[in-house]
Amino acid sequence: MTSAQIRQSFLDFFAEKKHTIVPSSSLMPDSPNLLFTNAGMNQFVPIFLAEKRCPYTPGRAADTQKCIRAGGKHNDLDDVGLDTYHHTFFEMLGNWSFGDYFKKEAIEWAWELVVGRWKFPANRLYATIYNPDKSIGDPSERDEEAWNFWAEKFRSVGCDPAVHIVNGNKKDNFWMMGDTGPCGPCSELHVDLTPDGDTRGALVNQGDACCIEIWNLVFIQFNANPDGTFSPLPAQHVDTGMGFERVASIIQGTRNFTDFANAKISNYETDIFRPIFDEIEKLSGKKYTSTLPDAADLSAIRNPQSAIDIAFRVIADHIRTLSFAIADGIQPGNTDRNYVLRRILRRAVRYGRTLGFHEPFFYKLVDVLACTMGDVFPEIRAKQAQVKEVLKREEESFNKTLDRGIELFAKAISDRARLKQIAEQTNVQTGSTMQVVFPGSIAFELYDTYGFPLDLTELMAREVGMSVDVHHFEKLMDEQRARARAAQKKEVISVSDDNLQLDPTKFLGYDFLETEAVVEAVIPVAGVSDHGHNEFNVVLDRTACYAEMGGQVGDHGLLHLGDASWPILDTQKKGDVFVHRLGSARASRAGFGASPKQSSGGAASEKVRESEALSPAREARALPEPGELVHVAVDAIRRAAIQRHHTVTHLLHWALHE
Ligand code: SER
Repeated sequence: MTSAQIRQSFLDFFAEKKHTIVPSSSLMPDSPNLLFTNAGMNQFVPIFLAEKRCPYTPGRAADTQKCIRAGGKHNDLDDVGLDTYHHTFFEMLGNWSFGDYFKKEAIEWAWELVVGRWKFPANRLYATIYNPDKSIGDPSERDEEAWNFWAEKFRSVGCDPAVHIVNGNKKDNFWMMGDTGPCGPCSELHVDLTPDGDTRGALVNQGDACCIEIWNLVFIQFNANPDGTFSPLPAQHVDTGMGFERVASIIQGTRNFTDFANAKISNYETDIFRPIFDEIEKLSGKKYTSTLPDAADLSAIRNPQSAIDIAFRVIADHIRTLSFAIADGIQPGNTDRNYVLRRILRRAVRYGRTLGFHEPFFYKLVDVLACTMGDVFPEIRAKQAQVKEVLKREEESFNKTLDRGIELFAKAISDRARLKQIAEQTNVQTGSTMQVVFPGSIAFELYDTYGFPLDLTELMAREVGMSVDVHHFEKLMDEQRARARAAQKKEVISVSDDNLQLDPTKFLGYDFLETEAVVEAVIPVAGVSDHGHNEFNVVLDRTACYAEMGGQVGDHGLLHLGDASWPILDTQKKGDVFVHRLGSARASRAGFGASPKQSSGGAASEKVRESEALSPAREARALPEPGELVHVAVDAIRRAAIQRHHTVTHLLHWALHE
C-alpha cells in the first residue's frame, strides 16, 4: 500500500464504523498550556471536559492530525535524525468516542483494522496495559478490562495472552496531554520487527527500533488538575493515536509483511520521505545511504557518510515541521513557540552545511510538500509562496553568522588544553564523566553574537564527545538579561490601583490639545525619581493628554494654575483614571505650539499665553489642590511626532503580517 492508501484505508474503516471524518486542526493549539498541537485529541478537549456539546451523531470522529512534538511534555527533537522513527512533525491517525463506545469497541476495532484488514502478523503484536505502582501514588487502577479484551483477541489466533500482553507503568501507560487536562490509562500496540519475530515481549518499551509502538488507545476518564490531583470526568471517552509514518514504514519496509528478514524498516524509507530525499539529493549532489549512528556513542560519527545520512533525516523532518507550522500562522521568532521554530530551522540550516549548502536551500523543499501533501492538507498549497519566503529570509539571516560561528566552535574545540583551563577557572563540575566540557562563555558568544541556539551548540558539542557548561551559559544569560532590564529602566508612575477610587477621567485628546480641568487628586510620587524629589501625580476630571497605551507613549505637556505651571513629564493610565506626573513648578515659556483651534475652551489659549509671561520669581505654588480649576496643554509638537511614528509602526506591523 502507498502511504496515501494507508491513510485513506484508516479513515474509510472508521467511516464504516459510523465515525465523522473531520479535518486536522491547526498546529497552533487552543490550549494555553501547549506549545504546539501535539496530539489528535487536542481539538476535542472541550468536549471531553463537557465544556462543549459533541457535534457528531453518533458521538464518534476520526481524522489524520498534524502534530509537532518539539518541546514541553512530549519532545522528540533530540532523537530526530539519529534513529528511524522519531520526528518533530508527524501525522497521527485517530478515532474518538465522546461518551459513546469505550474499551471493548476500541480494542475490537483496533484488532480488526490491524490484523483483519491490514494483515499485521498477530504473533508479532504486543499490547501493553496500565499497571500502576500504588506505593508511589500512581492514579487509577490496573486495567483488567483492557487485559481481558486483548486476551480474547490473542487467544482467538492461538497466541498466549500472558506473553502478548505486557504491563506498563504510569510513564508508558497513563496518557496525559500536558501537566493538566483530560487523561487516562492507555493500551498500546507494539510490533516486533526482528527477523524471526520471537522476542516474546522482551523489547517492548525498551527504546529498541526492532520493536516499536504503532497505536495508542487512551481511555479518557480523568481531568488532571493543576495541583496534581485527578478528577473523574462526567463521561468516559476513547482517544486513539496511530503513528502514520511508522505504520507506513512497516507495511512498505516488509513488502506487505512478506519479508522481515531483509526488511528495511525506517520512516525515511517510505514514499512519505522519499520525494523529499530525492529533492535534497538533486540540490546537494549527495546520496542518502540509510546508515544509522550508534545512538550510545555519537562522537563515533567520524564517518562522513553517516553524518550525511543524519543530515538528510534531520532536514527532511524539519522542513515538514517548519512548513506546516508557518502555514498555520506560527512564525519563527525570538520567544516561546516561535523560538522553538527558529531553533529547529537553525539546526536544519547548520545540517545543510554537512551537505555542502552555503546558500539558502531549505525553502526550496517546500514545493515537494505542497505537491505530495497538498491534497490532504490544502493549507500547505494555499500558503506555499509565503512559507518559502519566510524560510528563505530566515536562512539568509542565519547564514550571515553561521560560518563564523562554526569557525569559532571549531577553534574552541581544537584547543582542548585551553578548554580544560577554562573549565577549571569556572569551576565546572564534570561529575564522574570523563567528557571534555565546552565552555559556557563560548556557548554564550555563539548564542549572543552568532545566533546559535543553545541546543544547537549542545548538539554540535555532543557530536565531538563534549558537553556544554550550561550552568555558566545560564549565568551569563542572567547577567545579560539584567543589563537589558537596566537599559530599559522606565520611569513608572507608582500609584497603586487601590489608591485611585476616582471617577474615570474624560479623555478629550482626540479632538483637543488643551483643556480646562478640575483637580481630583494630588498624590506624591513614591520614592525619589531621576528628576528630583519634587514630583507628584495629579488626577484631573478631564484631560487632553494621551496616556501610554497600545505601544504609544504617554503625552508630555504643561499644567497651569494661575501664575504657576508645572511640566507634565508623563501620562499613564490606572484603570480608567489618567495620571499626570508633574515636575517642579516653573515658569512656563513658549508653550507647546497648540493652535487655539485645538483648545477645548476659548480661554485656554489665552491662559497659555498668559503663563508664558511668568517670571521665575512668581513660581509661588508648590502644588495644585483638589477642586481647583487648572489648564492642561499637550506638548503638541511631541504628540505629532509620536503620532507619525506610531502610525508608521502600525504600517510596518501590517506589512510584516502580510
Ligand atoms: N492522545 C494519545 C497520544 O497522543 C492517543 O491519541 O498518544
